[in-house]
Amino acid sequence: MHIPVLLKEAIEALGVQPGGRYIDCTVGGGGHAAAILEQSSPGGQLLGIDADPKAVETARARLEAHSKSILLINENFANLQAICIKYDFFPVHGILFDLGLSSLQLNNDERGFSFQHDAPLDMRLSPSQKVTAADIINTFSETELAHLIRTYGEERYSHKIAPYIVQQRPIQTTLRLAHILELAIRGRKGRIHPATRTFQALRIAVNQELEHLEAALRQAVSLLGINGRLVVISYHSLEDRIVKQFTQREAKDCICPPSTLTCVCGHKAILRLISKKVITPSLAEVQLNPRSRSAKLRAAEHVITRNEQLFYHDIAEGLRFPAGIEARGWRRPALVEKLRRTFVALQINNS
Ligand SMILES: C[S@@+](CC[C@H](N)C(=O)[O-])C[C@H]1O[C@@H](n2cnc3c(N)ncnc32)[C@H](O)[C@@H]1O
Repeated sequence: MHIPVLLKEAIEALGVQPGGRYIDCTVGGGGHAAAILEQSSPGGQLLGIDADPKAVETARARLEAHSKSILLINENFANLQAICIKYDFFPVHGILFDLGLSSLQLNNDERGFSFQHDAPLDMRLSPSQKVTAADIINTFSETELAHLIRTYGEERYSHKIAPYIVQQRPIQTTLRLAHILELAIRGRKGRIHPATRTFQALRIAVNQELEHLEAALRQAVSLLGINGRLVVISYHSLEDRIVKQFTQREAKDCICPPSTLTCVCGHKAILRLISKKVITPSLAEVQLNPRSRSAKLRAAEHVITRNEQLFYHDIAEGLRFPAGIEARGWRRPALVEKLRRTFVALQINNS
């Protein structure tokens, strides 16, 4: 079983309410999803997404009792907006990302995510992806490997590890790679296993985790209704940095460099930070579930400007279709598309 991390805190931050519509972008074992469905009952709806078809199967079995209120999709959250448009699932009251891997994936001895089990060096979330960890390990140049391990693993011994890997190739399995990593940085004591950072780097690269997260955050905001909540739980500093920078930037009215005297960017805040400080698990949670120890939760609420309020009010009332909708649509294209359809439907009804 996967134990959901920061469960109470996530539900609270999402502000789950009866009848609300929510998206769980990383449905995994269905732990957070089950709590959202319970709390949003009666009338709540949940769209659950996961890139891993096995995770979707697990969630479907676990959430069977809620089958009428849930739509489960095997997709990458990098396509969040397209998924929501396809299934007409927006605007929503809250969107959750619980990043990384579930215990079901880490403990699976065929997926190659963990150096605790011997398995082929795969690490793909979905079998439809082309590149595996073995492809990277066996084809990248020494310089490329060192760069990848340093950037995605924040591994300070990347310059020692990369030549060692190149010398020992081909490397096809997790335990052989873990052994090579131990040898490459032997004698240098650390708190964590010598393979931890390189495995993290490979997993991030194979699944393009950081690129997908950046793309999805932007799309998520476009799908939130007014006062809708965005909640992200991350497990390593690279993910958390992306979430922190994104939420802080989008919570500002001006993003001009500090040296600029008057604002020239015209940027308007579209988020309000719910808590300025990051939320981390209690000691009790970490003792119960050691995998939660690195978790960080950040949450923000979607806000709109006065002009936008007027703009949406106009459309909602079906009074007129303001000029410039295309130009403004870039911020929340999905919502604008829905409003456009509502507007067209209203016009058809009235004529
Ligand atoms: C930590 S688990 C989620 C656990 C879940 N919250 C629960 O309570 O059971 C993270 C899940 O996100 C999925 N995932 C990671 N990156 C993804 C992506 N880009 N698109 C869709 N799913 C992704 C993984 O396959 C995994 O099942």
